[in-house]
Amino acid sequence: MRDAVLTILLDNMGRYISGQDISRTLGITRAAVWKYIKLFESEGYQIESSTKKGYRLTYVPDVLEPAVLTSGLDTSIIGKNMECHKTLASTNIRAKELALAGAPEGTVVAAEEQIQGRGRLGRSWISPSGKGIWMSVILRPQLSPEKAPRVTVMTAVALVRALKRAAKLEAGIKCSNDIVCSGKKLCGILTEIHAEPDVISYVVVGIGINVNLSAEDFPEDVRNTATSVKMEKGRELNRRDIIQAVLEEMENIYLNSFSDDNFEQLLEEYRNYSVILGRTISVVGAAGEFTGKALDFSKDGSLLVQRDDGRIENAWAGDVSIRGETGYV
Ligand code: BTN
Repeated sequence: MRDAVLTILLDNMGRYISGQDISRTLGITRAAVWKYIKLFESEGYQIESSTKKGYRLTYVPDVLEPAVLTSGLDTSIIGKNMECHKTLASTNIRAKELALAGAPEGTVVAAEEQIQGRGRLGRSWISPSGKGIWMSVILRPQLSPEKAPRVTVMTAVALVRALKRAAKLEAGIKCSNDIVCSGKKLCGILTEIHAEPDVISYVVVGIGINVNLSAEDFPEDVRNTATSVKMEKGRELNRRDIIQAVLEEMENIYLNSFSDDNFEQLLEEYRNYSVILGRTISVVGAAGEFTGKALDFSKDGSLLVQRDDGRIENAWAGDVSIRGETGYV
């Protein structure tokens, strides 16, 4: 019932709605509505009360809860089912449990804090409470497993678009799981798949966005190579706006640009956001290290690198670590 009352207030954000209308819609007494209003105020929501006009929600605190994140969310699949937690080991681990248990496509798991946040290649991902977007999305694309990297490409483009729309921030793509700003890492994507030999059964797309972290929030070893939306903009941003923009952009691409016919167009946008194409990079992979020129991205999600001796190699975001000549990019 708490969420139902909150949803009505959120759907009428900035407008008065009478206590009577709320009580009638939900079949509860006006006294019960008033109790919920007091509860929300104690949680940091700001609500104006008028004996004549009712209640008007004027401020929503930066908390992750389904009613807040789904109100006004313009999607039909992604985020329709949502779980928010105060603390989780990792949203990817929880999302995989849910996916195995049959959770519907589009289910989103978010956490205020992760205590075992994971990055690529077994690295850890710093996820302090209330400061970032740590979330995972379950998808069930009808794709053969070798096309799974498309999901990461899609998510990278969605993140760049969403940061531009919701935070007026121009970010770029380093490799498909790595979103950067001012040459430093801003977001990471960890895509995990579960597949039959010929078809994917589910994909969990883990998304980490450093939103309101300060330099001191990062461990010393990454402090020079990591950034946050707050550090770039010089002010804190509400995570809800960014989350909704990310989910909307993901769904838009998933429904419209994900097929074989349209994927080339998405790849073109991806190339435009790349911060490494045309540059000399060094690739550190299982087979050792080499330098070369980043030539292009192929449809399978790999990066084509021309080695100094002219040979062209495929470098995969999943098993390479790319360092620019200077700094992180
Ligand atoms: C990387 O760039 O190495 C990927 C980082 C991915 C971090 C996100 S945060 C939400 C989700 N849960 C995790 O444990 N990891 C991903």
